Amino acid sequence: MTLSLPRIAILGTGHMGGAILSGLTHTLEAPSTIRVTTATAASARVLAGKGVEARSLEEDATANQWAIEQADIIILGVKPHYLLGLLEEVAPSAPASAVMVSIAAGITVAQMESIWPGAVVRTMPNTPSQVGKGVTGLSSGSQVSADQVRSVREVFETVGSVLEVEEESLNALSTFSGSGPAFVYFFIERFMEVALEHGFTQEQATTMVQGTFAGAMELLESSGHTPEELREAVTSPGGTTQAALEVYRSADLSAIIRDASAAAIARAQEMAKG
Ligand SMILES: NC(=O)c1ccc[n+]([C@@H]2O[C@H](COP(=O)([O-])OP(=O)(O)OC[C@H]3O[C@@H](n4cnc5c(N)ncnc54)[C@H](OP(=O)(O)O)[C@@H]3O)[C@@H](O)[C@H]2O)c1
Repeated sequence: MTLSLPRIAILGTGHMGGAILSGLTHTLEAPSTIRVTTATAASARVLAGKGVEARSLEEDATANQWAIEQADIIILGVKPHYLLGLLEEVAPSAPASAVMVSIAAGITVAQMESIWPGAVVRTMPNTPSQVGKGVTGLSSGSQVSADQVRSVREVFETVGSVLEVEEESLNALSTFSGSGPAFVYFFIERFMEVALEHGFTQEQATTMVQGTFAGAMELLESSGHTPEELREAVTSPGGTTQAALEVYRSADLSAIIRDASAAAIARAQEMAKG
């Protein structure tokens, strides 16, 4: 698939900005329409090697102004505590028709619109975007047009799936997809620990645990069955799987997941208050 997308600037092209950049360079007809910036010259050199125009603040203090000169979409890819400062820096020279896109946790549309009165989109991508299997939540600001939202959506679709939600749902979405990969790895780590306690080697434990997570997901995606159906297929009445599942049920895993989700939402609300 090739897409003809607008001119894009990514200000801060690290893990997440870099993932979006990779998706775009694999999909766009003309990667030359992308300008990216970084703090350090070393990072910019790596990105320039991928065929996009890259500049660093270390070598050019006006790199961000250069990147946004003619941009239709400006992705703010820096850490959340730098985001509003970066927006203040670029807002005076950004094209009035540009849409500002945040990928940062905890920065609200209202905070961005208080600095940039034009089009704003707030997103919450996740790290599997790095392998084209991301899930991005997307909320629109009050001034953004349907065409601009569609263009931003197309950018994030180059690295996975996109869900458009009201902003009040974005923090909740983040506890499933944004933070979700961390929870999956946390489970994998715990399974690995216990496998090692049973005397398996690291290599054996990795094959068993990672192989099972990956295989189970692939089966879920390809079989057309629900998770419940596939779980029941493994669970003979009175058998070993059932015995183990009863332990999970008695620990009330649902309550733990609900509490964890609530803790993440509360933290996001605190961060939004600064
Ligand atoms: N990682 C995640 O799981 C995840 C998930 C969803 C959303 N996000 C969001 O993505 C954003 C970036 O996170 P990350 O993990 O990608 O961070 P990161 O890897 O540290 O990348 C930050 C990038 O910003 C550059 N930078 C710093 N100050 C800059 C400035 N003033 N102008 C231009 N570039 C500047 C850095 O340059 P150097 O490389 O030269 O230092 C680096 O390229 C955060 O807002 C985070 O909330 C992350």
